[in-house]
Amino acid sequence: MVEKVAKLLREKKTVAFTGAGASLESGIPTFRGKGGLWEKYDPQIYASVPGILFTFLKSPDKISQFFVDFYEVLLKAEPNSTHYALAELERRGSLLGVITQNIDNLHQLAGSKVVSELHGNAYKFRCRVCNREETRDKKEVAEFLEEVKKLHTRKDLIRKLLSFIGRCECGRRLAPSVVFFGQPLPEEELVKAYQLIDKAELLLIIGTSGVVYPAVNLPFQAKERGCQILEINPELTPLSSIADIKISQSANIFFSQLLEYLG
Ligand code: OAD
Repeated sequence: MVEKVAKLLREKKTVAFTGAGASLESGIPTFRGKGGLWEKYDPQIYASVPGILFTFLKSPDKISQFFVDFYEVLLKAEPNSTHYALAELERRGSLLGVITQNIDNLHQLAGSKVVSELHGNAYKFRCRVCNREETRDKKEVAEFLEEVKKLHTRKDLIRKLLSFIGRCECGRRLAPSVVFFGQPLPEEELVKAYQLIDKAELLLIIGTSGVVYPAVNLPFQAKERGCQILEINPELTPLSSIADIKISQSANIFFSQLLEYLG
């Protein structure tokens, strides 16, 4: 199978579409299924703007605990073979770019340059008015986590969380660039994604359950245009029905074999 995929990659303009399964072997749990993030944290609260705002004001300790759990995992995560292989394929001119639903920054850390982040980036905070974006580096996030862990009163927690998120130069509060349920996808990222999809002759769908709209419209659109679809996921998903090739394997294992094959 590795040989067959390597041949396709040489012949076709290829784009990757990734989800949480691509980062599982980097130590970041997926969202759905056993051990998924939504098993521990109710998405109605933690992935919706009204849910998170209400909880933030009522019980900031719950939000700070969520931040600590979530960012501690993220800070430790390093790219795995999937991220490295996609970056290497792009470097060699065999991949046009990556469209990702992940917010973990691992594609960029591995060296990918063309990345459309459909659901934002956990390290970026954006002004909803002037659209300015600020990035927090790992050191700043780690310092914030250490400080927030020492705080206990509602007032201190609210103050610390707000100061971490920060203010724009225009004076307004920044907001996480991460997309919450019901929010539109960032326009720039969508434009980049559609530009990639419009050129793709082969789409690698890697580690996504394919149930979150509107992101999942992209593979369906690619299929309609006649793009060949290759899905890498140990499980069946709604996207399996449009896949021309299905690799029922861990992405990390498949891409480590591909990297070895490519030499
Ligand atoms: P999910 O948690 O819904 O799905 C993860 C997928 O990865 C499942 O289909 C697994 O079978 C597959 N998987 C598990 N291990 C794998 C491995 N080693 N190799 C390859 N695949 C593997 O995650 P997403 O589809 O990314 O959105 O979720 C989409 C969106 O739902 C997320 O971006 C997030 C979430 O709510 C927002 O927060 C807006």
